[in-house]
Amino acid sequence: MSSNKTISGFSKLSKTGKIKWVVENFFKDPEHVMHELKSWWHHDKEQQRLLDGFSENTISNFPMPFGIAPNFLINGKTYAVPMVIEESSVVAAASSAAKYWLDRGGFHAKVLGMKKLGQVHFSWRGKAEKLESVFDELKEELRKDAAPITANMEKRGGGVLDIELVNLTHLEPNLYQLKVSFDTRDSMGANFINSVLEEFAKTLDRFISFHPIFDENEERDVNIIMSILSNYTPECLVRAWVECPVADLGTFSGGYTAQSLAEKFAKAVRIARLDPHRATTHNKGIFNGIDAVVLATANDFRAIEACAHTYAARDGQYRSLSQCTVENGIFRFWLDIPLALGTVGGLTKLHPIAKHSLELLGHPSAEELMEIIACVGLAQNFAAVRSLVTTGIQQGHMKMHLANILNHLGANEQESEKVMQHFEGKVVSFTGVREYLDAVREGAGVKV
Ligand code: MEV
Repeated sequence: MSSNKTISGFSKLSKTGKIKWVVENFFKDPEHVMHELKSWWHHDKEQQRLLDGFSENTISNFPMPFGIAPNFLINGKTYAVPMVIEESSVVAAASSAAKYWLDRGGFHAKVLGMKKLGQVHFSWRGKAEKLESVFDELKEELRKDAAPITANMEKRGGGVLDIELVNLTHLEPNLYQLKVSFDTRDSMGANFINSVLEEFAKTLDRFISFHPIFDENEERDVNIIMSILSNYTPECLVRAWVECPVADLGTFSGGYTAQSLAEKFAKAVRIARLDPHRATTHNKGIFNGIDAVVLATANDFRAIEACAHTYAARDGQYRSLSQCTVENGIFRFWLDIPLALGTVGGLTKLHPIAKHSLELLGHPSAEELMEIIACVGLAQNFAAVRSLVTTGIQQGHMKMHLANILNHLGANEQESEKVMQHFEGKVVSFTGVREYLDAVREGAGVKV
């Protein structure tokens, strides 16, 4: 069946040609959409060329707010943290938690490991003991053949840490894996790891095909299935925490004393350890902060999310990534999270804004960035749970929601102020705001 909504050779069209095809086939008002899409092109052609080059079939740019959460005191150093996020309240909540902990010793963080992982999966019909008996020899060959790829990383203090043979034949007939661990220093290391693994796969194939220990025929026949990094890096781990005497927590909206707040807060975190439904939302709150900084520094948020969710389910049940205790008069709230990040390579220095994000953070190493981002995740989680167990989340959200509705309705500053005053402490709905704004405009003699 043919349709005018399919095309071959789309990627070969010029940018304008691509937009033309899209708007003419999918939009009611092609002229308007064409104009709108083009209006988001960067005025500097070189910058636009750079952005276009990050991906394929680019027709425009997709703007997102770039915000700052100031006053983050982390390991005794203050940071103004860049955040790219479209959800209202997130930057405000991070800033509020940062300010709160600024007066209580700030955030603390420690990298617990930097190990990255990769795998070469292969099928082989030989005797496992034979391969195991020559594995040291194979490892030497693997390292030697990959030396041209690893030399630079080794100069920077990283490289291949270890190579293991994993026998998976109890799960799937003839299945084996080379499990390789890496230190990629300040780079996220995906390209490095994948290049090394692909080289390892070639060496493995040759080694098995020609080594005299293996019998002719079946044992010399190896089938490389795939060579790829693993995004699950439980030993590329960072811990972030805050702590203070319970009495120093202060008092909270809703008449909560420090002690009652601390206990209720800890219970809410425990619920997220026990119940996967709550854990998912709880961790989503953590990722509100984490993803925003990961994006602002042009790191790979899909990799970060995939890894941490697996980590959250590592004992067989999906649980909260953060934990809280109230013991001996001390409130302690912490987050352990694997974060495979880079501050060199990839888009980190290429992206025109990401490079400024890194400068804003003082050109951190990958380890320092892990610490910063874990603290922002913890701050975000603190702010969300604090709201949930005191005023409820809607109070803060509604303010931002109202601002968005007013924007949508094209309210000017004076109109917005009047509407905001009116809705102070009231339930906000789109219709309610539109009706009140209409009344304000009518009152002011403005035609609506
Ligand atoms: C909303 O984006 C995030 C929260 O739902 C997180 C949470 O419930 O902990 C507020």
